[in-house]
Amino acid sequence: MISDTLIDSAVRQLFEGIKFQDQPAGLYDPLRYMIAIGGKRIRPRLCLTTYGIWADEFGPHILEPAAALEVFHTFTLIHDDIMDRSPLRRGNPTVWKKWNEDTAILSGDVMFIDSYRRIAQAPAAMLPQVLSLFSKTASEVCDGQQLDMDFEKRDSVSMNEYMEMIGLKTGVLIACAAQLGAMIGGADEKSQECLYQYGYQLGLAFQVADDYLDAYGDQKVFGKPIGGDILNCKKSWLTVKAYEKGATEIVEALNDTDLAPEKKIARVMDIYRAAGVADEARKAISDLSAGAITKGSDAAMDTDGKEALKRFADSLVGRTV
Ligand code: IPE
Ligand code: IPE
Ligand code: MG
Ligand code: MG
Ligand code: MG
Repeated sequence: MISDTLIDSAVRQLFEGIKFQDQPAGLYDPLRYMIAIGGKRIRPRLCLTTYGIWADEFGPHILEPAAALEVFHTFTLIHDDIMDRSPLRRGNPTVWKKWNEDTAILSGDVMFIDSYRRIAQAPAAMLPQVLSLFSKTASEVCDGQQLDMDFEKRDSVSMNEYMEMIGLKTGVLIACAAQLGAMIGGADEKSQECLYQYGYQLGLAFQVADDYLDAYGDQKVFGKPIGGDILNCKKSWLTVKAYEKGATEIVEALNDTDLAPEKKIARVMDIYRAAGVADEARKAISDLSAGAITKGSDAAMDTDGKEALKRFADSLVGRTV
């Protein structure tokens, strides 16, 4: 078992190790920028946390794959911000805004390739399983991102469809992080599967929290403009829930192109208020997080391991519930 203090210092060490070649600067500066402006670093931290339940020492065989998760995640953000027309990320201008779209596309591409270089440094004996999990995850994230965009154009989306979409765009990468740490740490297959399920459920909780904070968060803390999902006609947890509760007028409000942005946000927020979806979102987040802990507890580990999973889950969604 590795302590939280050692995990913290390993996360710092891992970030210091994320370097990119100097030239062409126009291609690599955006990568350095995205890593420098930070983020919550939850995926590498989760990977190191589950690794530390089974193993006693860190080394490049786990730090590089954990870095691969962050590099891959950051690449998805660069492209997601073009797709969502988002001007702000981690409290700073997005790559497509600070440079331009062409730069954001190519810098994202090269960052994706960099993540493969890093994941390939997993121990040779387990490389086939590691690469298979990572590649399956990466293509599922694309599936989820496509569904997310398809849903913008639809009037209604069921809660099941929404859950499937967020499971793909967000759940699978967090699940992959949890399983990868356990795998490289030496956990048996059944425990790895429990950790995958833990990460997946936690990823769902995390995305519902992100949707909630997109409407109810504080921009200074959230680092992204509040109301962005509403302006993009996103089928967020809040809109799907409001529709499910009979507030079908939300469709017209979201599709109203004549309303000024602030008015549109205010109108949709009124519908949320009348439908009472904010409280339900907080409850859903806490239920999903509790479900994640239950799934993770089936892994073959001692109480210290179980407590580590609980602490991690609490640190992740504690900001909303
Ligand atoms: C943002 O992920 C995208 C979602 C899956 C909600 P994070 O909230 O982990 O972003 P950073 O890395 O901390 O900026
Ligand atoms: C992003 O979902 C998921 C991925 C980047 C794969 P969002 O579009 O909700 O993420 P934010 O809110 O821009 O961080
Ligand atoms: Mg998006
Ligand atoms: Mg986005
Ligand atoms: Mg979001």
